[in-house]
Amino acid sequence: MEAKIKVAREFAFAKIDSRIYGSFIEHLGRAVYDGIYEPTNSLSDKDGFREDVKELVKELNVPIIRYPGGNFVSGFNWEDSVGPRDKRPRKIDLAWKSIETNEVGLQEFEKWTKEVGSDLDMAINLGTRGIDAARNLVEYCNFDGDSYYANLRREHGHEKPYNIKTWCLGNEMDGPWQTGAKTAGEYGALARETAKVMKTIDPTIELVLCGSSGLDIPTFGDWELKVLDEAYDEIDFLSLHQYYGNQENDLENYLAKSKGMDEFISGVIAICDAIKAKKHSKKTINLSFDEWNVWYHSNDADEKNEPWQVAPHLLEDIYNFEDALLVGCLLITLLKHADRVKIACLAQLVNVIAPIMTEKDGKAWRQTIYFPFQQVSTYGRGEVLTPYTNVDTYNSKDFEDVDKVEMISVLNEEKSEIITFAVNRSKEVADFELDGIDIEFKKVIEFSKMSGFDIKATNSDESENVKPSSSSDIEIKDNKVKAKLEPLSWNMIRVEI
Ligand code: AHR
Repeated sequence: MEAKIKVAREFAFAKIDSRIYGSFIEHLGRAVYDGIYEPTNSLSDKDGFREDVKELVKELNVPIIRYPGGNFVSGFNWEDSVGPRDKRPRKIDLAWKSIETNEVGLQEFEKWTKEVGSDLDMAINLGTRGIDAARNLVEYCNFDGDSYYANLRREHGHEKPYNIKTWCLGNEMDGPWQTGAKTAGEYGALARETAKVMKTIDPTIELVLCGSSGLDIPTFGDWELKVLDEAYDEIDFLSLHQYYGNQENDLENYLAKSKGMDEFISGVIAICDAIKAKKHSKKTINLSFDEWNVWYHSNDADEKNEPWQVAPHLLEDIYNFEDALLVGCLLITLLKHADRVKIACLAQLVNVIAPIMTEKDGKAWRQTIYFPFQQVSTYGRGEVLTPYTNVDTYNSKDFEDVDKVEMISVLNEEKSEIITFAVNRSKEVADFELDGIDIEFKKVIEFSKMSGFDIKATNSDESENVKPSSSSDIEIKDNKVKAKLEPLSWNMIRVEI
């Protein structure tokens, strides 16, 4: 089977916004407590944060981290999480039926984010709260003048503003499960008025409006039209959320699910642009796919969860090799829309549907999905080249004309490199050929692949066997890069130009 991709410098279509490689940490399960923060662990720093986890997060190269939720944020009072720790209240979290000690809050998390080389993508509570709490929070975080909340921040030890640039106007406000869920009309109006005050305090911030919490939710489409109609002028991004799973154990259909992501993104772009036209606006709304991942392995276990615990084991999906292949396809799909998807967050980062897992008093380890994400976030920098591909297709239960090999190439002029990411979804070897019309290939820097594993193979604290290895089955001939892509494989090919 052939898998040919033709690209040209001339057909670069999008500069990649590094925020497309964002992630997410929610006060949920063991993400924060017993995840990034475990003061009794011998590997923790003086503030109680695990150094080994910090190293894995740094290696993953996530430039932005969404925080503190998620469903959690819709019942969260930010004031509980700042100031002297011994005065912080112990509260119940209705979203996950857990106990929140507030031992880690805004101050500690912001410091940790900087230590791992990321910025905060801060979500505000538009479930139980609204304009007033939001304006106070922006004043606390970003105001440099002499005012009550700015001075409170100083009293809490932070003289200079945090200057948080990206903010989410609530979370999944369309979801019936959300604390304080709203109709599109109610939410659109609240988001617009909240956005107005937030931008009055700091006009440099960028705001993400809640889109639908999934393509399958019945209000999808209508929700986007209405909330954009209300808030278009005040906001910068519209959000999308989607999780995937192989509940039916149908590999061909599972690996085709990135086509669902593609349709979702195209649909949302169409709606944004329809409202732009209707409003005669000059402004374009871009997309923030701020929750995406595989989530289904832990569903049964979570139903048996005992409520009202601190740091319960929740959403602890253990990912297998087929999940890594799908995550690869999803990353390529995001890159194919990099002209409009400017922020995306792999949900989540540690222990909760996460690429990084930790054992209490034990090791931190990399799940299978860690690797494609790490390679794309590290090397997928620069510009995306329009992919002209020639590859066989197949039909699956829910999708038609699925490419047997999913591919994309990125041009990094600064590093004189072209990087191609490819997933071979089929059980045949693919004869890969990269033709760079106006690009001269000098030498192969790296051909890294994940292949040959049992499709259900997983990693654990004892072994990280499901990981990339390098291959030499590659050559440059007549200015074409030729390689063999193994059946069911994730591949990254870096070539000096
Ligand atoms: O990421 C887990 C949960 O999924 C988030 O809290 C919520 O926003 C979504 O439903």
